[in-house]
Amino acid sequence: MEKRQLLYEGKAKQMFATDDPDLVIQYFKDDATAFDGTKKSTIASKGVVNNACTEIFFRLLEQDGVETHFVERLSDREMLVKRLDIVPVEMIVRNVMAGSLARRLGLDEGAPLSAPIVEYCYKSDALHDPLINRWHVTVLGFAKPEEIDAMTALTLRVNEILRPFLAARKLLLVDMKLEFGRHHGRILLGDEICPDTCRFWDVDTGRKLDKDRFRHDLGDVAEAYHEVHRRLSSPA
Ligand code: TMP
Ligand code: ASP
Repeated sequence: MEKRQLLYEGKAKQMFATDDPDLVIQYFKDDATAFDGTKKSTIASKGVVNNACTEIFFRLLEQDGVETHFVERLSDREMLVKRLDIVPVEMIVRNVMAGSLARRLGLDEGAPLSAPIVEYCYKSDALHDPLINRWHVTVLGFAKPEEIDAMTALTLRVNEILRPFLAARKLLLVDMKLEFGRHHGRILLGDEICPDTCRFWDVDTGRKLDKDRFRHDLGDVAEAYHEVHRRLSSPA
């Protein structure tokens, strides 16, 4: 597999072409941003940890029949993935009241939800990823009705697969963000699943083990990322 030109650079990752038009290399950086890039820093070894966590989650999901873009991990920071036409809708699923939902509704963080809540956000940094609904998605043509329905069902299924896996490792999956894309007409799970894109709380202490430590200056950020990776790598 030959690594070719940089196709795209995001806040946390770079995408490189390969000699196969169907495959790209996802490179995980240590750069961390929050609040639409207004807060910027690096988290030591974050790229390595996020690559490794994403591999663990995507292998688990593939075993359970969820199609992802994952092909193989190439190195500490590089993952070979199928090339996707990304749907510009961030899929959020929540199990516990937290983050922007708590802020929007003026509620305290921490109450378990009686069932998962799925939210859609339009993927646009310039607009601060605004919350949208199924009407916006279909009428404005971000995805076809059958695509957003499939993405919604897959988001709930990923949540149901990851929750017990994480609970067995003493991690509460509070919420997470997923992205999907089209590959030869099929909808595949793309992007990454890691402490940047999920909220993980320690089941016993409630300690936050995710990017909220960076967002809210809680300290020990890199240590929390390593702790998540350590738990994911250990047998239940
Ligand atoms: P929120 O509560 O801030 O809307 O975040 C919901 C979930 O989405 C949380 O697990 C963190 C994740 N997330 C991202 O992956 N990228 C983002 O830009 C934001 C704001 C949240
Ligand atoms: N990744 C987003 C940003 O850079 C926000 C976040 O994760 O909080 O702004």
